[in-house]
Amino acid sequence: MTKAKVAPSILSADFSAMGEAIKEIERAGADLVHCDVMDGSFVEPITFGGQMVKNIRKITALPLDVHLMIEHPKTQIKFFADAGADIITVHYEACKKISPTYLKETLELIKSYGVKCGAVINPDTPAEAIFDVIDLCDMVLVMSVFPGYGGQKFIPTSLENVKKVREYALSIGKGDIDIEIDGGVTCGNAEEIRAAGANVLVAGSAVFGAPDKAAAIDKIRG
Ligand code: DX5
Ligand code: ZN
Repeated sequence: MTKAKVAPSILSADFSAMGEAIKEIERAGADLVHCDVMDGSFVEPITFGGQMVKNIRKITALPLDVHLMIEHPKTQIKFFADAGADIITVHYEACKKISPTYLKETLELIKSYGVKCGAVINPDTPAEAIFDVIDLCDMVLVMSVFPGYGGQKFIPTSLENVKKVREYALSIGKGDIDIEIDGGVTCGNAEEIRAAGANVLVAGSAVFGAPDKAAAIDKIRG
């Protein structure tokens, strides 16, 4: 397995000083910038939209990993692709409410813009739910908390989903797929998470709350 990557979540940054926050995690060795987009409907809070991603795009060369926690994601793909997202992930749970094929259609739409795509599953969604779209995905995002807020406690059973996705991906010849984990990742549990097969670790409070962000990123990356 290649070296793990760390994607600090800017949800834990000071939104009034976002530029400085991005520069800080860049200097600290972040591999990607994880952008949590929330719509006040799929999840309770509202964060930001394409304009924020567009502004961040101008100040960093790091890949922008856009996690859409929104209803009707298909309607928003254009804005995030145009804003310069490198990867866009969409929730299985939001898509299945619309139609059985909506997730597949959304992933294909993301790819049509030349942007990498991924499916996201909540902690109580079995990994099998997205097996039929894994061949389309550059990444699978396994949630290890219920989406909406930073600073929640890691749900250990989510590692079962990581293992199942890795096993299934291997069985279809896509063993090199990125598996990202998001929620409650700390310097203390990162090793166990990597061992389960996740290779992209999102960390919000564990990075932004650390006195030494570079040391925290190094520790999470392993
Ligand atoms: C939760 C978000 C996460 C969150 C992670 O809904 O998707 O990306 O910011 O924050 P921590 O690492 O603090 O759990
Ligand atoms: Zn996220």
